[in-house]
Amino acid sequence: MTEPISPRHLLKDTDLSSGQIQHLLDVASRLKSERREGHEQRRLIGTNLALLFEKASTRTRAAFEIAIYEQGGNCTYIDPASSHVGVSESIEDTAKVLGRFYDGIAFRGFEQADVEAIASAAGVPVWNALTDQWHPTQALADLLTMSESMASPLRERSVCFLGDGHDNVANSLMVSGALLGMDVRIACPATLRPDEGVVAAAQLDAAVSGGSVLVTDDIDVAISGADFLYTDVWVSMGEARERWAERIPLLRPFRIDASMLGRTGNPGVKFLHCLPSIHDRHSQLGQELFADYGLDGAEVSDEVFRSPQSLVFDQAENRLHTIKAVVVGSLTRLEQA
Ligand code: CP
Ligand code: NVA
Repeated sequence: MTEPISPRHLLKDTDLSSGQIQHLLDVASRLKSERREGHEQRRLIGTNLALLFEKASTRTRAAFEIAIYEQGGNCTYIDPASSHVGVSESIEDTAKVLGRFYDGIAFRGFEQADVEAIASAAGVPVWNALTDQWHPTQALADLLTMSESMASPLRERSVCFLGDGHDNVANSLMVSGALLGMDVRIACPATLRPDEGVVAAAQLDAAVSGGSVLVTDDIDVAISGADFLYTDVWVSMGEARERWAERIPLLRPFRIDASMLGRTGNPGVKFLHCLPSIHDRHSQLGQELFADYGLDGAEVSDEVFRSPQSLVFDQAENRLHTIKAVVVGSLTRLEQA
């Protein structure tokens, strides 16, 4: 059986083919142009979608909501504070109920097994809006942003992720970048390497696509000539606050500042971050990290975050267009969209 050009579910990057990723990026670009030019078609009229979120979100929630509204659909935001999910009702029962009401479910939570259980039980398309292991809608926005910022194709470009190499954003970037033939490098301490199974999957994809995957604790090897430097928070949602005490000394050498950009040797290097970011003291966590550890910003300096090389707000905007492509792709026949 030939694979569908748009996947029904989006659960993890390793489920996708390079053709499916490229198709979603093409559709996202088309939807972005339609919106900008003021002639967006409404393909989700009569569609009701559930956003089931167990963790906080600004971008992902807003992107799903606006994507759905702009396409003429409706959505309901559901979280543990105002529903029974995970508290007095299992994920499986919740999924079965939501599947009777809604045409699709976006889920943000802790365990990857939970989003997979929802997809098995609900009977409607399910999209992973972030788990501890994967953040596939983020990677789509990252790829779109990188491709928009360069004249040449992504398979001729390199991206280096620095920091917590085993987090969800690093996993999704590594696998999806490898599928599209990018030169992907992960620079991280030996204790924060991605799971070997994920690295092996990405390396297999790279062998087919002509890309490459390198995981190393040698920062200068990893960043040499890179087109993009990418980082994420040093302690992710769901991890204990105490993790900061061990991660700060471990990850301080991986902080992206102006000298790190210079060490790439590429004067055109660009900066990426999924956000939210600790780049100054203008948040509660930023203030606490300064008070407790003397850190003024963590994974990236304020200077780089705000620099012309920084693509972070283009990335954030592209969450909308790529999530719209994912939802429209799952629920409609995209080739007719
Ligand atoms: N990048 C991202 O997923 O942001 P939110 O946590 O705000 O959704
Ligand atoms: N790794 C981060 C990503 C946030 C978008 C987290 O899981 O908290």
